[in-house]
Amino acid sequence: MDFWKQFKPGFTILAPMEGVTDIAFRQVVAKAARPDIFYTEFTNVNSYTSEKGRHNALERFRVEESEYPIVPQIWGTKPEMFTETAQALKKAGFPAVDINMGCPDRHVVATGGGSGLIRTPELAAEIIRAAKLAGLPVSVKTRLGYSRVDEWRGWLTGLLQETPAALTIHLRTKKEMSKVAAHYELIPEIVALKNDISPDTTLIVNGDIERPADAQQFIEMGADGIMIGRGVFHNPFCFEKTPRAHDREELIDLMRYHLDLYEKYQLSPYDPLKHFYKIYINNFPGASEIRECLMQTKNITEARLILDQL
Ligand SMILES: Cc1cc2nc3c(=O)[nH]c(=O)nc-3n(C[C@H](O)[C@H](O)[C@H](O)COP(=O)(O)O)c2cc1C
Repeated sequence: MDFWKQFKPGFTILAPMEGVTDIAFRQVVAKAARPDIFYTEFTNVNSYTSEKGRHNALERFRVEESEYPIVPQIWGTKPEMFTETAQALKKAGFPAVDINMGCPDRHVVATGGGSGLIRTPELAAEIIRAAKLAGLPVSVKTRLGYSRVDEWRGWLTGLLQETPAALTIHLRTKKEMSKVAAHYELIPEIVALKNDISPDTTLIVNGDIERPADAQQFIEMGADGIMIGRGVFHNPFCFEKTPRAHDREELIDLMRYHLDLYEKYQLSPYDPLKHFYKIYINNFPGASEIRECLMQTKNITEARLILDQL
């Protein structure tokens, strides 16, 4: 069966987030409350196809069996490298591959990749075709346009003409970054366009969704699935089917689990791990003082000592 067709309407995805959704954090989210699908952080096809960068790329594609279904996400500008990388991902056992065409990072855009591809739709189409040669279902994650919201119709028409297996739309332009409210009002028109051009494409909506229940209205409008990114920072249990309150102990246990996994996979350096502490040490009396102490720690052992004293 087509990979994307196995999921029921309203299915959920943890958004790919560079520097966040690595192998450790994905497992933390899986333990708290699993989404239906995970994505890897995005990985440059340039690195994957070069001797020098391959090691880093392979790190990003390291996944545990328990994380499946998981979709690796790739980005770049050279069609032939998409073919080669997608072939390798197929060989490694991944069920599908996603192409990033929405990243607004200026370094990425300067190469012409990520949301830079919105300005070169012919290259974007060529990349989809090249990735498809590997035989995996190819999906695209993008934004509404580069600088104007009304670019959406032309841009998405071009993408849909390539019949991607799935299309995730972060409902903002590149220029809007995450500064304005997501344009949910466009969902019905986007669904109609998709049904017109490529009815078999699975449509996923993304942007500011905090809980699957909040997005039920988008499924009623015709979207197939929802993707949540920063919502996990506010509530790591956000994918719970039946939401309930979680006490301090559960959050601290989750943080301990994260520390264990960071150590197990030898992820380094230590400091980036501190960005996550706000997720766990939050919303209870004394949380900000504890966080301050945790910010002074120099390694996982010191962080564990603080948790032990709580
Ligand atoms: C720290 C961070 C890293 C991100 N890295 C990626 C990435 O690697 N690939 C990608 O497609 N989007 C990336 N995004 C965008 C998210 O996947 C998502 O589209 C965006 O955050 C909007 O969804 P949200 O409002 O649910 O967070 C990143 C976002 C953040 C905050």
